[in-house]
Amino acid sequence: MPSLSQVVNVQDLRQLAERRVPRPVFDYLDGGGEGEFTLRENCRAFQEITFRARHAVSVGACDLHTKLLETDLALPFLLAPVGYSRLMHPEGECAAARAAGEAGTAYILSTISGHRMEDVKAASSGPVWYQLYLMGGRAVAEAAITRARRAGFSALVLTIDTAVSGIRERDVRNGVSQLLSGNLISMLPFLPQIVSRPGWLASFLLDGGVPSLANVVVPGRGPMPMVDVASALANAAVTWADMHWLRQVWNAPIIVKGVLTGDDARRAIDEGASAVVVSNHGGRQLDGLPATIRALPEVVAAVNGRIEVLMDGGIRRGTDVVKAICLGARAVLIGRAYAYGLAAAGRPGVVRAIEILRTDIERTLQLLGCPSIAALDRSYVDFPAAWCRGHIAH
Ligand code: FNR
Repeated sequence: MPSLSQVVNVQDLRQLAERRVPRPVFDYLDGGGEGEFTLRENCRAFQEITFRARHAVSVGACDLHTKLLETDLALPFLLAPVGYSRLMHPEGECAAARAAGEAGTAYILSTISGHRMEDVKAASSGPVWYQLYLMGGRAVAEAAITRARRAGFSALVLTIDTAVSGIRERDVRNGVSQLLSGNLISMLPFLPQIVSRPGWLASFLLDGGVPSLANVVVPGRGPMPMVDVASALANAAVTWADMHWLRQVWNAPIIVKGVLTGDDARRAIDEGASAVVVSNHGGRQLDGLPATIRALPEVVAAVNGRIEVLMDGGIRRGTDVVKAICLGARAVLIGRAYAYGLAAAGRPGVVRAIEILRTDIERTLQLLGCPSIAALDRSYVDFPAAWCRGHIAH
């Protein structure tokens, strides 16, 4: 088992995470919806894309800079919103935001955060966006949006694929809801998995145990307890009508996350989105959705350059990032790739994950004979022609 300095790839970080955190925390991070078909597909589909390298050209140091929503990023990837990050490591969201800022890229803070958004913003020297769930209703969300604006968050990410929470069977088996309940009797059968990771347990207890949702403040009740998340999400389905409201209360960019079809992409543009994220929530919601890299060409064609298209899902290597950009993504979001690092070792783990992907991307560009991220296009890849056909109506 490698130490942090010896890890070679994201898979190594995953193994380190599995060793440090208890099974319920690891499976929450690692797992997906139902049979995990979509989770596996997200990674597998990248293998259907092959490169068309230009050999015998010298490109020297490659330029990884990426312009996104008028902001210059040093890298073509951002850190995706990952709920419950503070359970993976006490520094959680603050550590991830700090690592992103140090690397010159952006961090997206989930609504399901154990750290206050003001502290997360202060931790990062780079752009920070806020991902919005309507837990607690519009009034609670408006209070969070006001705080986000004051704290200096520069964009809102509206996640639209969470009408209800997907069923993650590993979480049910591990008793995640019983463990969060605080009721010792119902927790008892699941406690051995927790005490088997004494290092994690000590840091968790020193951090005060299960945190509440510091940015979901219910009037008269205070921060929402984490245990309420599933039921709160069930009453928080986002619809397109919410985009209209959101544009009244937030006058900076809104990014719609969870688009998988040309129709939804066009709708997002009509509703005033500045960008869309082609995403199936990392295979954690509806199982049976296609791999996001497969859905990307249809969305890119429908958007036709009017707004920026991002994607996430299954990014584990720099070659995956390069392939997504060749297919038309402006940049990608990474979720588990950095969260494994966070669970393995806190901020140094996230730094290592970012560094692995950065060096991967640079080497890939050099081997491709391409001088910069901006110069990537479809001429550098082959991929199945069917991916461009989109949906055929019956
Ligand atoms: C997520 N994701 C997510 N998305 C979101 O909009 N709000 C959230 O709170 C969360 N929480 C969350 C927790 C965990 C543990 C994971 C793994 C993912 C989805 C995330 O933003 C992103 O879409 C996926 O993680 C991308 O897939 P990969 O990179 O993990 O394969």
